Amino acid sequence: MKIYVINGANLNLLGTREPEIYGSKTLSDINAEITNKCRTLNVPTECVFFQSNHEGEIIDKLHEAARNADGVILNPGAFTHYSYAIRDAISAIGIPVTEVHLSNIHTREEFRHKSVVSAVCKGVICGFGSAGYLMALEVMVNNN
Ligand code: DQA
Repeated sequence: MKIYVINGANLNLLGTREPEIYGSKTLSDINAEITNKCRTLNVPTECVFFQSNHEGEIIDKLHEAARNADGVILNPGAFTHYSYAIRDAISAIGIPVTEVHLSNIHTREEFRHKSVVSAVCKGVICGFGSAGYLMALEVMVNNN
């Protein structure tokens, strides 16, 4: 299987960005953990990593995923809360997308309680820090 792991706005700053909320691991640390987890799965799995602070680049990457991958793990960052364009891209591509957030968006500021992408995702994992990406990988590979 091939899974695209796409991270959105400000997630390149993980490690130094509000570590009390997002933890102290960098995005490279998390991506390395995902690559290691791939090696433990029963199904041979390759992950392709992408991060962008630009909405259109994320949309382009989702389109590319539809041509090249079996599924997507997506943390859109703050785009989660208002990007109808990313939501439409997810509905358009027709491959399963799992939404992941490091923090529990429902226990934070009110504007984070609403995700405009959840309704078109296969599932949502939030609040478990970087472990959420590993959980998403496991369910996408084993429950597909
Ligand atoms: C986030 C939660 C969002 O509300 C926030 O804007 C982020 C990160 C998370 O992973 O917890 O950038 O998606």
